[in-house]
Amino acid sequence: MHLVIREESRGDESAIDQVTRDAFRDHPFSQQTEHRIVQSLRESGALRLSLVASLENRVVGHVAFSSVTIGGVDQGWWGMGPLSVTPQRQRCGIGSALVRSGLRRLRERDVPGCVVLGDPAFYARFGFAPQSGLVFPGPPADHFMAWAIERPAPAGEVAYHPAFAAQP
Ligand SMILES: CC(C)(COP(=O)(O)OP(=O)(O)OC[C@H]1O[C@@H](n2cnc3c(N)ncnc32)[C@H](O)[C@@H]1OP(=O)(O)O)[C@@H](O)C(=O)NCCC(=O)NCCS
Repeated sequence: MHLVIREESRGDESAIDQVTRDAFRDHPFSQQTEHRIVQSLRESGALRLSLVASLENRVVGHVAFSSVTIGGVDQGWWGMGPLSVTPQRQRCGIGSALVRSGLRRLRERDVPGCVVLGDPAFYARFGFAPQSGLVFPGPPADHFMAWAIERPAPAGEVAYHPAFAAQP
């Protein structure tokens, strides 16, 4: 199988939408708004990086990156997500390839750090870890993690783009 990770280009929108819907359809904590979050980020010009995983020219995965604020201030940090792999292709390394490619591109762009909300069993392998002082209200603290180039990482409450408030 020949997997290509590349930036989203014009014409990928509906395939990304479908992959995102399919990935989150049976997710226990999802309200099935993730595809709308991606659309809204795109429409707002807030998709800082949008990567697709393409297998034989079919989009089978996607990850979005957007800016977050820390303590109400844009400190250059990004948030990763939603991250989606089409159900038939999960557990084949595609999600990991998307994350690793994304983090490599963040380094190239001198992005000082990135946060993610998700299962630590998956994200710890990429270097994400809870960061004391960097907080996101609501979910269990161990599910909110940071990947930091900049040390020490900034402290404060993290807020995602308003697109993440999409209602079901
Ligand atoms: C989470 C997701 C993106 C992972 O992509 P993937 O291509 O299946 O993952 P990979 O094949 O690269 O990695 C598989 C590894 O991650 C683990 N893994 C996959 N999904 C996991 C999850 N939800 N929680 C914990 N571990 C998970 C697998 O056990 C496997 O571990 P191993 O390598 O030790 O065997 C994909 O399963 C998906 O789209 N899920 C539905 C949407 C979702 O949960 N998105 C993330 C929300 S934070």
